[in-house]
Amino acid sequence: MKTTMRSTYCGIPRMENCGETITVCGWVQRQRDLGGLVFIDLRDRTGILQLAFDDNTDREVFNTAISCRSEYVLQATGVVRERSSKNPELPTGDVELEVRELEILSRAETPPFEIAKSSEVNDGLRLRYRYLDLRRPELQKNLMFRHKVAKITRDYFDENGFIEIETPTLIKSTPEGARDFLVPSRIHSGKFYALPQSPQIYKQLTMVAGFDRYMQIARCYRDEDLRADRQPEFTQIDFEMSFVDMEDVLEMAEGYMRRLFREAMGMEIGPIPRLTYAEAMSRYGSDKPDTRYGMEIFDLTDIVKNCGFGVFSGAVSQGGSVRGICAKNCVSALTRKEIDKLTEMIKGIGGKGLAWIRLTEDGVSSSFAKFMTPEEMESILAKAGAEIGDVVLIISDAKNGSVLSLLGQLRIEVAKRLNLIPKGKFNLLWIVEFPFFEWDEEAKDWMAMHHPFTAPLDECLEYLETDKAGVRAKAYDLVLNGLELASGSIRITDPVLQNRIFRLLGLSGEEAHKKFGFLMDAFKYGAPPHGGMAFGLDRIVMQLTGSDSLRDVVAFPKVQNTSELMTNCPDTVDPKQLEELGLALKAADKPLG
Ligand code: AMO
Repeated sequence: MKTTMRSTYCGIPRMENCGETITVCGWVQRQRDLGGLVFIDLRDRTGILQLAFDDNTDREVFNTAISCRSEYVLQATGVVRERSSKNPELPTGDVELEVRELEILSRAETPPFEIAKSSEVNDGLRLRYRYLDLRRPELQKNLMFRHKVAKITRDYFDENGFIEIETPTLIKSTPEGARDFLVPSRIHSGKFYALPQSPQIYKQLTMVAGFDRYMQIARCYRDEDLRADRQPEFTQIDFEMSFVDMEDVLEMAEGYMRRLFREAMGMEIGPIPRLTYAEAMSRYGSDKPDTRYGMEIFDLTDIVKNCGFGVFSGAVSQGGSVRGICAKNCVSALTRKEIDKLTEMIKGIGGKGLAWIRLTEDGVSSSFAKFMTPEEMESILAKAGAEIGDVVLIISDAKNGSVLSLLGQLRIEVAKRLNLIPKGKFNLLWIVEFPFFEWDEEAKDWMAMHHPFTAPLDECLEYLETDKAGVRAKAYDLVLNGLELASGSIRITDPVLQNRIFRLLGLSGEEAHKKFGFLMDAFKYGAPPHGGMAFGLDRIVMQLTGSDSLRDVVAFPKVQNTSELMTNCPDTVDPKQLEELGLALKAADKPLG
């Protein structure tokens, strides 16, 4: 972008520009002083241009070039010329700038790490100096890609009649999935705002208000443990539509994905396959399966229910199951030692053990064959579709849900360890028909799996009270390569049904009114049928850029313990501020230092 200080960016000049006089500005990536020759690699967000200084360079300019150090900010004017030794690694590698004028715009102290090598530096240091880390081309590329995704998103929803409406970020604390971040009120001493976990209730109110189609690129806050795919503050692409059923919402979301992949990735995606929750769990042991590789779960319960191996038959007799996965062509990689490591991993996540069969050229070995008849072993291998070169891994447990979830995690671990996950592949998948209720072991009660405003499937209405476990919801998730990308539902707008659901969730009319009264009130004044969903923008960008962590696609992320190292936040505040808020810290809670 031309400004009064420069005529072009560093990454632009090519052979066809030779002979042109240009002015560029940027940071010194590297300075090489070869005696009579000085080279400076000048970097801006578009790339790197080599600045050349030699015998013909004005002496003052030459001396300035000698004095330049890493990360100095320069303005250089000169003539583009062909390089004598070209650098095929650089897009501008055929040319260089024969510098006529050079100005140091800003000097830099020796940075705590070299930008070009900062990926080798420990995370803590990089995040402490995030503004230096962000000079890295990879991070700049990610954030520019993020901008592009946001732009495509706004264009798509705008073209489909959605209106972007900002909703408040200081709101009433209402129960959602995670813990709220609270903000004390100064004026209303002893009262608190909460930061929104999502704009859920407000977006529903925009439907009641008649906006018909709402969208927002919305900041959300959840006080929960961090993981590579979770930040305490993150961004949702949130939308809601009136007068729709599930198919309309899925179609709108699918159209969005199609547009995004086409414009951001240059890729066409076909129709997105659908799996019911029940199917996803039984085939992959996960409600967000990665379908880029096979290794689907198979059920051995019928084959082994009466076998002589007590671990299997015992689990079945207690109402559990025996299931397995087959790792194809992995027998040399899955040695006994490797299987031992997997067994440890399974024990670490609540499993009792791992049974296995290895099929080598020299024969079949197994941890449990001696307890089985040859026919039973045959049937297991047939069910597994196992051939020579394969390894069968089996888990049994008195709880069927545990077997599935353990195998689901094992499947991912094996795929990771054995490098079975293809690169550059994007498998999108709808998960539909989520259970409405979820048994909470701690509370010993049924909870809403999505949220209490989610509509049950019409066909389940008749047995809401009598078969909670069987009730499925008009709730859906979109999964990309094993990561939950988006989630949503059709909402309940019928007050009679809503009250029935509250009762089933153990919420008295009074409690429900205290928690969600304003929404319930709003629904009394004409609520259109509506539904929607929300995508995680950070997660989309993480997946499409092939990043391992949300940190690589968020400009100023939080670390594992939810602090931000650069500004040292959270931090203590002045006692006067606490006083104004009518707050006092308990002695035991006072932060040290
Ligand atoms: P949900 O809670 O499933 O649904 O969130 C929607 C999407 O937001 C992303 N996401 C996150 N991304 C980064 N860090 C986090 N901590 C985090 N938590 C969630 C995920 C997720 O799929 N109001 C409902 C949506 C609806 O029903 O319309 C909601 O918030 O990609």
